[in-house]
Amino acid sequence: MPHERFHFSDRNALERKISELGLDMPSSDDISVLFSPLYMPGRTLLNRFVVLPMEGADADPSGKPSDLTFRRYKRFAEGGSGAIWFEATSVVAEARSNPHQLWIQPETKKGFQRLVKETRLAAHRKFGHDHDLLLILQLTHSGRFARPDGGPAPIVAQSNPFFDSERSLSSQPRLILDSELDALQDRFAAAAGLAAEAGFDGVDIKACHGYLISELLAARTRPDSRYGGGFENRIRFLMETSQKIRREYPGLIVTSRLSVFDAIPQPYGFGVDAEDAERPDLREPIELIGRLVRLGYPLIGISLGIPAHRSHLGRPYDKPLIGQDLPAEHPLEGVARWLRLTTEIQKAFPSLPVVSAGYSWLRHLFPPIAAAAVERGKASLIGLGREALAYPDWTNDLAAEGILDPRRVCLSCSKCSQMLRTGTPVGCAVRDAAIYQAEFRRARKLAKEIQRDKKKKAKAAKRHRDRKP
Ligand SMILES: Cc1cc2nc3c(=O)[nH]c(=O)nc-3n(C[C@H](O)[C@H](O)[C@H](O)COP(=O)(O)O)c2cc1C
Repeated sequence: MPHERFHFSDRNALERKISELGLDMPSSDDISVLFSPLYMPGRTLLNRFVVLPMEGADADPSGKPSDLTFRRYKRFAEGGSGAIWFEATSVVAEARSNPHQLWIQPETKKGFQRLVKETRLAAHRKFGHDHDLLLILQLTHSGRFARPDGGPAPIVAQSNPFFDSERSLSSQPRLILDSELDALQDRFAAAAGLAAEAGFDGVDIKACHGYLISELLAARTRPDSRYGGGFENRIRFLMETSQKIRREYPGLIVTSRLSVFDAIPQPYGFGVDAEDAERPDLREPIELIGRLVRLGYPLIGISLGIPAHRSHLGRPYDKPLIGQDLPAEHPLEGVARWLRLTTEIQKAFPSLPVVSAGYSWLRHLFPPIAAAAVERGKASLIGLGREALAYPDWTNDLAAEGILDPRRVCLSCSKCSQMLRTGTPVGCAVRDAAIYQAEFRRARKLAKEIQRDKKKKAKAAKRHRDRKP
C-alpha cells in the first residue's frame, strides 16, 4: 500500500486503517500489563518499558560522555522506564561511527562511571531508592560504517555489492583479517570489563544494522576464514566473545541486539529467504538465539534492517532523510512487520525476555497495541527509541493519566536520524527545540553539502567511464 503520513486522532481511526490494510495488529483496552514487573533470573524489571539505544554523537573526542550525554540519560532515567539500553559505544578508536561516538577505554572509564551513577541517582531522586533501573551498555564496532575522523573508513567482514560501490566513491573498504577478529574479541571483553567497573548491569555485543558483528553473521562469501562461510563460522565471533565475557565477568549480564532480518539478498543478508530478500527466514536467527540462551543470555534485543540501506524497515517514518524517497509501503505495514518478527522470536522462546521495537510511528496510540503484544506473548518488553528523545516522560504520563499527550509525541520526521548521519549531536529538534533545533539546521546544511558532493563525484565517475574505449 502507498506511504501515508500519520493522521489518526484516535484508536478507532487507527484500527479502521489497520483492518483496511488487512494487518494483524490487535490492541487491548487494558494497558496495565505494561506496568507489570518482569522477572529475570536474579533480577526484577519494574515495568515493561525499555529506552532503546540511540546514538547521541555528543561525546568528546576521547569518547567521554559530555554534558549533553548526561542530560539525555538523566531525562531517560526520570522518564520511569524499567530499563535503559545505552547507545552504541565503540570498543576501539578505528571503529567509531563518528568522532563524537562514545568510546569506552581506560581513559574514559571515569566518565562512564559518573554517567551510570548520575543516571541511577536521577531515578532514585524522582522515584525513591526502590527504583532499580536495569542499565545495559551496547558495545560496537561500526565496521562498514566506521567514520572515526568524520569521513568513511570502512572495515568490512565481506565485500558487498549493495554498499561497496557507493563507499568506493570516497574510500575503499578494508577486509578485516581473522587475526584482527581474534584480537577484537579481547577488545570487546576488555570493554565489557570497563563497563562492569563503571557500574553497568550488563553489556550488549551489538549485532544489528549491518555493523561489523552483524555483517559477520551474513559473511557467507568471506574467503578462507574461520569467521566466514558456514553458519558455525559466521556466528563464531558473537559466540566466542559472549563466552569470553561470561567467563571473565560472571556477574555481568551479556546480551545482544540482533538484527534478525537484513532485507538484502543472500549471500549478503542474514535472516532472509534464499530466493526472495523481501521475505524473512528466521531459521538461522532462531538457532543462534537458542545457542546464546544456552550460553546464559537472560534477555535479547531484536532489530531488523540496515538503516544505511533502507532506514524505514527499522524505523517506520512519516518523512525520509534528506535526498531519500518515501518507501513503497505504508508505515503500518512496517510496524506490522516488526510485530510479526518479534512474535516469531518470542513464540520460539516463550520464557526469554524479548525486547521489541518499532512503536514510535504509532505516536500516542501505541500503548494499547503494545499492551496486546505483551498480553498475547508476542513480546516481553516494549522498547522505544525516537519516542525517548521526543517524550522521555512517556512512561510517567501513561502511568498517571492512562494516555499520552499527542502534543509531545515523536512525529517520525527523521530529523534525529539526519543529525546522526551528519555526526551532529542527536536529539529531538521538534520537542526539545531549545537545544536541538539549531543542531538540526547544522545537520541539514551538512547533509545538503554531502548530497551536492556525491552528485559531483558520481558525475565525474560517469564522465571517466564514458571516456574509456
Ligand atoms: C538517531 C538514532 C540513533 C540510533 N542509535 C542506535 C544505536 O546506537 N543502537 C541501536 O541498536 N539502535 C539505534 N537506533 C535504532 C533504535 O534503537 C530503534 O530500533 C529504532 O529507532 C526503532 O524504534 P522507534 O520506532 O521507537 O524509534 C537509532 C535510531 C535513531 C533514530
